[in-house]
Amino acid sequence: MKLSDIKSSEAELQDYYAQLRSQHITPAWIGGGITREPKSKAVPWVWHWRDLRPQAMRAAQLVGTEQAERRVLRLTNPELPGLSASNTMVANIQIVMPGEIARAHRHSGSALRLIIEGNGGYTVVNGARLPMAPGDLVLTPNWTWHDHANDTDRPMIWLDGLDTPLVRMLEAGFYEEYHKETQTIVEGAGSPFAKYGEGGLRPVWEAEPATRYSPLWHYPMSQARAALERLAADRSGGPLDGIILEYTNPVTGGPAMPTIACYIQMLRAGERTQAHRSVCCTNYHVIEGRGYSVVGGTRLDWEDKDVFTVPTWTFREHVNDSDRPAFLFSFTDAPVMKALDLYREEAKAG
Ligand SMILES: [Fe+2]
Repeated sequence: MKLSDIKSSEAELQDYYAQLRSQHITPAWIGGGITREPKSKAVPWVWHWRDLRPQAMRAAQLVGTEQAERRVLRLTNPELPGLSASNTMVANIQIVMPGEIARAHRHSGSALRLIIEGNGGYTVVNGARLPMAPGDLVLTPNWTWHDHANDTDRPMIWLDGLDTPLVRMLEAGFYEEYHKETQTIVEGAGSPFAKYGEGGLRPVWEAEPATRYSPLWHYPMSQARAALERLAADRSGGPLDGIILEYTNPVTGGPAMPTIACYIQMLRAGERTQAHRSVCCTNYHVIEGRGYSVVGGTRLDWEDKDVFTVPTWTFREHVNDSDRPAFLFSFTDAPVMKALDLYREEAKAG
């Protein structure tokens, strides 16, 4: 047995390829399709709050929530043809003005909100009212009814993260409007947090959820900050990312949602993390702090409330060159990669 060595003329080949094209068949030996390692079309990018906030306020002047199902600005990666910050996940800025509601709907894509500005508005998820304060994480997972309301006298602005590009690629998107504008609140403020917010303690009378997403839909910043500061006081954390915590599903210990994992990390003043890369795309939001990240050789300077994206299999390291701690929220599609045995991670040599 040996490799065969058939010689054809260029004319013969081109004629054959033309026939194949006319029959919607493609010779797989042309053009590859398999790469030695992942190469994202997306590029490292940062969107600065100093640009985002004025545009969000302008959107609030120009467009009402009657016209727009959601008043959302999509952060668009310069090299992605679709409207998303990263390959599988969007990162958007949403604004709800005083007295406004964003009406109830549900979709098969999963979403998270990281509150940037405003204190006292709320999201209702399947009838449970969730408070929203700066730095809080609020989940509106797959097929949960959700609406938002701002009953304060200041704008509410948050970061939206959704897996919609992935769901679209999988052709698995469903969407439905609620039969009225807002849900009836059946569980009082903070109910999911009251039941599941202690992590290690769980209410016995609650049936085990049939869904894979976390039943804890609200993760307050006050709790995350206290946990990070407690650990940062006398530990160095992990070798790659230092003091970093995952927002978990308290029932399973797994990621917050099957398609999106969420993290918060604290970079102490002067801290630099180890350059590493992983098979997942990651969107970051600077809850507070100032510093920079080197992503695929590009320096991204960031400060309070900025958003930046790290494409898959791209080395990233974070540097807090300021004299105060920095808190970075991030969300990734790592659970998808892990579920499919596609996840890898490595530190940069040297
Ligand atoms: Fe939604």
